[in-house]
Amino acid sequence: MTSKTLGLIFGGRSGEHEISIISARSIAQHIDNTKYSLKPIYITQSGEWINPEASEKILAIDFDRVVKSASEQKRNEALQTISNLAEGNRFSFDFQKEHIDVVFPCLHGPYGEDGTVQGLLDMHKLPYVGCDVLSSAITMDKAMSKICFSHAGLNITDFLVFYRHNFDSDMPGITALIETKLGYPVFVKPANMGSSVGISKVKSSEDLQPALELAATYDRKIVVEKGLEAREFEVAVLGNQDPIASPVGEIVPCNEFYDFNAKYVKGTSKLFIPAEISESLSERLRDLAIKAYKAAACEGMARVDFLMDKHNDTIYINEINTIPGFTSISMFPKLFAHAGIAYPDLIDRLIQLAIARYDDKSNVHNGKNSLQP
Ligand SMILES: Nc1ncnc2c1ncn2[C@@H]1O[C@H](COP(=O)(O)OP(=O)(O)O)[C@@H](O)[C@H]1O
Ligand SMILES: [Mg+2]
Repeated sequence: MTSKTLGLIFGGRSGEHEISIISARSIAQHIDNTKYSLKPIYITQSGEWINPEASEKILAIDFDRVVKSASEQKRNEALQTISNLAEGNRFSFDFQKEHIDVVFPCLHGPYGEDGTVQGLLDMHKLPYVGCDVLSSAITMDKAMSKICFSHAGLNITDFLVFYRHNFDSDMPGITALIETKLGYPVFVKPANMGSSVGISKVKSSEDLQPALELAATYDRKIVVEKGLEAREFEVAVLGNQDPIASPVGEIVPCNEFYDFNAKYVKGTSKLFIPAEISESLSERLRDLAIKAYKAAACEGMARVDFLMDKHNDTIYINEINTIPGFTSISMFPKLFAHAGIAYPDLIDRLIQLAIARYDDKSNVHNGKNSLQP
């Protein structure tokens, strides 16, 4: 069997740059080398694409250790090493010259998980893992995705959308609106982001403006949503037309909510795989996960995250991540491992789904075969 060359794009312009490096390292470690040869392509924080030779050296840096150390000095040193390796090694964007057959965009957050890179790969006529332009863009935007979910009959938390100019011009008005429509606590979030970057839980009016200011450093669009006291469940979904849902996982954050530190630094948040819940609740969550996946037109893969109100057990869909964390301890690969799909097989299936979608799309010829004008 001939092996395929997989372009593994990682890094990127978002606040989740470093998590992407860790995910990509994990994919590189687990991939079946007899089936795939790897060409890593790194994107710097400022958006320069770096060629595979230099990117391979960047991928060798153990960024997991750097993030876990929580040392600003170690982090800066690692980023400096990366920048030295990247210097003068721009990627040509000639995917054909690099013999790349299929791409795994392992990028979290804006400029990667949001349809932008997917659009670029479509333009280059390359199959790629995961969701297409539309579903990536919808699910990246926490307001737009809620509209889609709600349309499909799924419960969403009450929310409001603001832009910086709204609170620059009328903070008292914004405060009053939030207090009447939502009430404290609220979660203030950049509309397009992930890994809890820029998110605050706000319990009183004096903390509202700093939270909005922080979120506005990550996105011009801000979502403020009603805070629940909730259990957090996650379901991994895999597939194109007939997606399958993994068992349900539960997250018990070690902090007040599942913030960046609770996710990546402290290491004391608990993941329960499978979640210790009744069979009927598990089936319900898995059904809702598929429903949400289809509502947002997802293909390939996604992780569907839920909040269940501790007071009345109402299930709300929180969000869909179309390029979920891919480290070996991340929920997505672990949930499927529990269902008997080992990490290398999971990557293999994702690549097969990417190629199947690409072939299916190639059957569309802009009406050229149609008898209609
Ligand atoms: N409405 C909410 N009520 C309660 N907790 C929330 C709510 N929204 C977010 N959270 C908490 O904040 C975390 C991060 O929010 P989320 O919307 O998932 O952002 P991200 O895309 O960064 O993961 C969640 O995992 C959860 O712990
Ligand atoms: Mg989340």
